[in-house]
Amino acid sequence: MTAAAVKFGIVGCGHAARRHAEAIASLPGAVLPAACDIDPGVLESFTQLYPVRGYRDFGELLEKEKDLDVVIICTPSGLHAEMGIMAACRGKNVLVEKPLALTMADADRLIHACEKEGVRLSVVLPNRFRPAWRLLKLAVEGGKFGRLSHATATVRWNRDHAYYGRSAWRSKKDEGGGVLMNQAIHSIDVLRWIMGRVDSVFAQTATRYRPIEAEDVGLAVLRFADGALGLIEAASTVYPRSLEETIAFFGERGTAVIGGTGAGGIKTWAFNDFIDREQAIRVCSGPDEPSGQGHRAVLLDMMNALWHDRRPAVEGREGKKSLEVVLGLYHSTQTRRPVSLPLNLDERYARRGE
Ligand SMILES: NC(=O)c1ccc[n+]([C@@H]2O[C@H](COP(=O)([O-])OP(=O)(O)OC[C@H]3O[C@@H](n4cnc5c(N)ncnc54)[C@H](O)[C@@H]3O)[C@@H](O)[C@H]2O)c1
Repeated sequence: MTAAAVKFGIVGCGHAARRHAEAIASLPGAVLPAACDIDPGVLESFTQLYPVRGYRDFGELLEKEKDLDVVIICTPSGLHAEMGIMAACRGKNVLVEKPLALTMADADRLIHACEKEGVRLSVVLPNRFRPAWRLLKLAVEGGKFGRLSHATATVRWNRDHAYYGRSAWRSKKDEGGGVLMNQAIHSIDVLRWIMGRVDSVFAQTATRYRPIEAEDVGLAVLRFADGALGLIEAASTVYPRSLEETIAFFGERGTAVIGGTGAGGIKTWAFNDFIDREQAIRVCSGPDEPSGQGHRAVLLDMMNALWHDRRPAVEGREGKKSLEVVLGLYHSTQTRRPVSLPLNLDERYARRGE
């Protein structure tokens, strides 16, 4: 494909869709001719904000908008696999919001459909593009930490009653609600990406005081394949507002703590044999990254993949890895036992809440 404008379509015009629409508007070479939402009020608000042709039915959008290059799936998480497969079968490249799907079986179906149809599949995990976390991955790969003893992911957020009231799926276990699947998956993905394969997980979750069926707090211990340990603390219950999303890595010759309220900020950066904190901040263009940059980077990556005939940076198989960890955490909670990864066949097909 030459450097013609990339035509995106969006299905699901809620909260996530607006981030994509803003990012598309800011990117030269990206256009958004069409969008779809089943809810007429949501669709009307969206089409008033952005100059798109609006559809109520996704099948109709795919039928009429034959020129689209990429469909962005921003519907509730339980619909990702089915809608991604519909788009792939129409020859569209697929950019699917996290999580890739809600079961490993659905994730596989989506991946295989995209492979069969010869279209690209990428998962929206914007943290993968944050400069500080990319630098940290280089440090781990370059052995700059020495042996790692452990890493932690802390997601101390506030999601209030209104957040859950706006969209019913956010409350439900089997529709992708819950702080682990819906919020902490971003940090879990970074942990898994940087620390490598997870051997086993042990988790506890609870629903303390949000009016939801899914968990509002989840704690977990992980063992990585190289023997290092991991700790996850995830909560949507924090009073009175979100405190932090922080990831910390502790090694023989290095310590790095990245996060804070703005997610990508370098808090601690201490190495025996690597660039110092000031250099790291310069490389990452500042101590904190402006919000909203993440979705832009994800879209630009897909555009470059099309223009330069390459694969996107975060393909479906990558998105499946953090999904497997989260499903392992739920399985551990249900069985009250540690769970080994990869998940076995029954666990791969298990739906949450069963
Ligand atoms: N990457 C991120 O930072 C990020 C942030 C927020 C949400 N998300 C993800 O984006 C997805 C959507 O989340 P949200 O907060 O925008 O939800 P939302 O409820 O605000 O929006 C979802 C929209 O999908 C529409 N929809 C439902 N079924 C449909 C159908 N069959 N056809 C067309 N439209 C349909 C709903 O009417 C709704 O407007 C979720 O998977 C969530 O995990 C990702």
